[in-house]
Amino acid sequence: MPSVGTAAVALFLLVIASTAGAQLSHKYYSTTCPGLQPLVRRIIDQALSQDPTLGAALLRLFFHDCFVNGCDASVLLDDTATFAGEKNAAPNMNSLRGFQVIDAIKSSVEAKCRQTVSCADILALAARDSVAALGGPYWAVYLGRRDSRTASQREAVANLPPPGASLSTMVSSFGAKGLAAWDTIALSGAHTIGQARCANFRQHIYNDTDVDPGFAGVRQLACPASGGDSITAPLDVQTPMVFDNDYYRNLVARKGLLHSDQQLFNGGQYDYLVSLYSTNQTAFFDDFATAMVKMGDMSPLTGSVGEIRTNCRRWN
Ligand code: HEM
Repeated sequence: MPSVGTAAVALFLLVIASTAGAQLSHKYYSTTCPGLQPLVRRIIDQALSQDPTLGAALLRLFFHDCFVNGCDASVLLDDTATFAGEKNAAPNMNSLRGFQVIDAIKSSVEAKCRQTVSCADILALAARDSVAALGGPYWAVYLGRRDSRTASQREAVANLPPPGASLSTMVSSFGAKGLAAWDTIALSGAHTIGQARCANFRQHIYNDTDVDPGFAGVRQLACPASGGDSITAPLDVQTPMVFDNDYYRNLVARKGLLHSDQQLFNGGQYDYLVSLYSTNQTAFFDDFATAMVKMGDMSPLTGSVGEIRTNCRRWN
């Protein structure tokens, strides 16, 4: 049984956590930047009509921002001669995309509401609108985050789970961010859209035993046992441009592309959730939307901490 001291500390931490979230609000810019949300949606729709693969890129940018010192747009800072940001951290280098869409949104937003809307909030809106534009759920985004004046390559490496991660590693790494195991399973459904590079799934299709042999064979044709590291394949073999529940159906059929994907359905504790989502898209959409709101609430900078960048690529 916890001592009174431990219980008091736990209560204190709970209060801190809930106050941080309480500072964000759906209506944060309703008087300072009315029309913000339709403007962002218009630019996302335009960008995706030219290149629908950008939707996946923008969703992932938000994840890679939030998991590294919170949702503070640290991932958007460019390296300089004296500063190594997160863009060139191993999980991000030659892999993150979509920065030009964030730039386009930021310059339109700046023209309308000068130095008012943070890059961190633009990332949150862009992720939500990308999911919705590709057929996925829609949720109200809490706003009011501010932008960091720093970034950490080391923290990016330490906090972003690698494609070879086990289920327990993923659950504990998400747990360290305040996300429950079911949030981990639901958020992984983001891999219903987008691509991965051969370097990241080679081990799985050549060496793992929990792979459908026909699927492994087809993937091996375009991902040689050595070389071709940057050749890509869809994370969802069925509908990589549609945000649906096919990701979970693939896992049940042992057609997950990454080792980490197939870990979610591998005789483990959460097979039942994968099975549920594979047959009930509404349950997946509801849980995904809830988990995205939770992820978006990770350690936001609020009040007078941080700043509102005028250019998302550098601090003011
Ligand atoms: C659970 C742990 C996770 C691992 C180990 C993981 C790993 C990866 C890897 C290795 C790639 C391919 C990158 C490349 O080859 O260049 C990828 C792509 C992607 N990830 Fe994850 N990821 C995880 C969770 C998430 C979450 C929580 C989200 C969003 C909510 C997400 C969204 C995406 C998207 C949309 C892509 C495709 C990006 C594109 O096409 O540009 N991932 N992920």
